[in-house]
Amino acid sequence: MKVIIADKISERGVQLLKEQPGWNVVLTTKDNLNVEMADADALIVRSATKVTAELLELAPKLRAVGRAGVGVDNIDLEAATKRGVLVMSTPGGNAVSVAEHTFALLLALARQVPRLDKAIHEGRWEKSTAAGTEVRGKTLGLIGLGRIGSEVAVRAEAFDMRVLAYDPFISEAAAREVSVELVPLDILLAQSDFVSLHTALSPATLNLINSSTIAKMKKGARVINAARGELIDEAALAAALKSGQLSGAAVDVFAEEPPKNSPLIGLSNFIATPHVAGSTTEAQEEVGTQVAVQIKDSQRGELARTFCRSVPARAALSRAGRAPRVAGFASRGDTPGAHPHSLCGRSGRGRHAPAPQRGARRRPQCSAG
Ligand SMILES: NC(=O)c1ccc[n+]([C@@H]2O[C@H](COP(=O)([O-])OP(=O)(O)OC[C@H]3O[C@@H](n4cnc5c(N)ncnc54)[C@H](O)[C@@H]3O)[C@@H](O)[C@H]2O)c1
Repeated sequence: MKVIIADKISERGVQLLKEQPGWNVVLTTKDNLNVEMADADALIVRSATKVTAELLELAPKLRAVGRAGVGVDNIDLEAATKRGVLVMSTPGGNAVSVAEHTFALLLALARQVPRLDKAIHEGRWEKSTAAGTEVRGKTLGLIGLGRIGSEVAVRAEAFDMRVLAYDPFISEAAAREVSVELVPLDILLAQSDFVSLHTALSPATLNLINSSTIAKMKKGARVINAARGELIDEAALAAALKSGQLSGAAVDVFAEEPPKNSPLIGLSNFIATPHVAGSTTEAQEEVGTQVAVQIKDSQRGELARTFCRSVPARAALSRAGRAPRVAGFASRGDTPGAHPHSLCGRSGRGRHAPAPQRGARRRPQCSAG
């Protein structure tokens, strides 16, 4: 049994695989990945390695690909499906890290932290131009109320924010559990002071923030995106930041990474970080271990456990019931009911969970596994 680890994962995860009797665990580099794939049974990647149809062609024995992280946009799911290769990711492992980073971006926008910090380093004391805005009493609109959106909602309450969410696949009860009011998208756009994106990328969400949706937003609203760059039409966002329709935007993700031609770069009311929202020591440890457990379980035939730790779209589960070698799948978040929470649970917070007693709100358990 040969497992290739193409991108760095936590030492604990590597160790767990190495402890399996008879397993050959190979930490490879980009240069010799193609050669190593020839007799590989399983492959572990993060976002750097692209699992293309060509790469899969090189690995006739390959049975599973584990993605340490959430998105599987670096994996050719169709090619994996055709070859009967199971594709797993580790949703939830970095949800708290991303939610905390969302707040870092939100507060940095509200208080212009990057601009003021830069001025200090350049020898300027810009106290008189520093009027920020409180977030208390402001409305936060969450587009997508999954693992990360829910964690953001929980934290927003501590800041005394009113939280709205648009998520067509979330039940009212699940939203109530994190004290969030579900509303149609147009209402969220019209009422929010801060709009934060937490949906998966899908045909329905591609360029969700565009000139038409921006026009529906409150004048002077701020946009935060720690989800996927392609959710925003960057040209439209840049135009809105220049015209004053939006007073600021903060993102962790770009349509092209690193951004070479983004019209947002250089705008004074735009702040950005280099796709690091999920990159904390704690999250890396968690996802590295999760992906190792998934590979171990899947190779040992413990598929049900693996699915409950990974991306158990309902379709994938039913396919798993039919055949142990399941086609590739991923949580797109765009199919009603195809949400990991509804199947594997967040210890007590299912989508159809009854609303808690007033004042007795539970925190969602977002670690998938
Ligand atoms: N910046 C980072 O480092 C980083 C790290 C982890 C995840 N992410 C991204 O964050 C996003 C959220 O991740 P998650 O783990 O919370 O996913 P999730 O699947 O738990 O939640 C996504 C939510 O989006 C909802 N959704 C689907 N289609 C929608 C639509 N058309 N409109 C509104 N909502 C819709 C789904 O119902 C779901 O509740 C994803 O895009 C993910 O790739 C980014």
